[in-house]
Amino acid sequence: MSPNWTATSSLLGASPDEHPPPPRRVFLSRLVSLTTLAALGASALAGARLVLRYLYPRQGLSRRRRIFLAPRSELPPGATRSYTLPGGQSAIVRNTGTAWVALSDVCPHLGCKVRWDEAAGGFLCPCHAGLFSKEGKALRGPPADEGKDLRRYPVETIGDNIFIEIEEHL
Ligand code: FES
Repeated sequence: MSPNWTATSSLLGASPDEHPPPPRRVFLSRLVSLTTLAALGASALAGARLVLRYLYPRQGLSRRRRIFLAPRSELPPGATRSYTLPGGQSAIVRNTGTAWVALSDVCPHLGCKVRWDEAAGGFLCPCHAGLFSKEGKALRGPPADEGKDLRRYPVETIGDNIFIEIEEHL
C-alpha cells in the first residue's frame, strides 16, 4: 500500500512540489557530495601512485663527487693506505707500481674487512680466506667461487694529487 501523499500534504497544508528544499539544504547537500567525490578521487590517486611506485620503483638520485686523497709523493709504489669516505665507508688505496687503485675494504662474500697481505701478494679476507688481487679481482675462496670482486672506485690524478670518485645518494 502506497502512502497517501495527498492526504499527508493536505495535513501539512501544501504539496512537496510547492515548497522546494531551502537553498541552504541544497547547498549543504551539494557540498557533502563534492567533498565525498574529492575524497574518493584523492584516495584513488594515492592508490594509483602506490601501485605505480611498486611497479616502477624510482631510482634514487645520486651525484658523483671527487675527493682529494693525498699528494702522489705520499703513496709511492707498494704503499697502501686506508681512507674513511664521507659516507662512512672505507677505501683501501694502493700504488700497484703502475697505477693507484682504490678498493672497498668490504668483502663481497659476507662483509668482513679485507686487508693487504704482503705474503699473499693480495687483499686477504680473514673470515673465509678469500683472496683478491691488488686490483681487487677475486682469486680464491668463496668470493672467487661466486665471481665477486672487491668494489673498485675510480681514481684520478690531477697534477701532483690523487683523487677518488665516489657516488653520493641524495
Ligand atoms: S666474508 Fe670474506 S671470504 Fe667470506
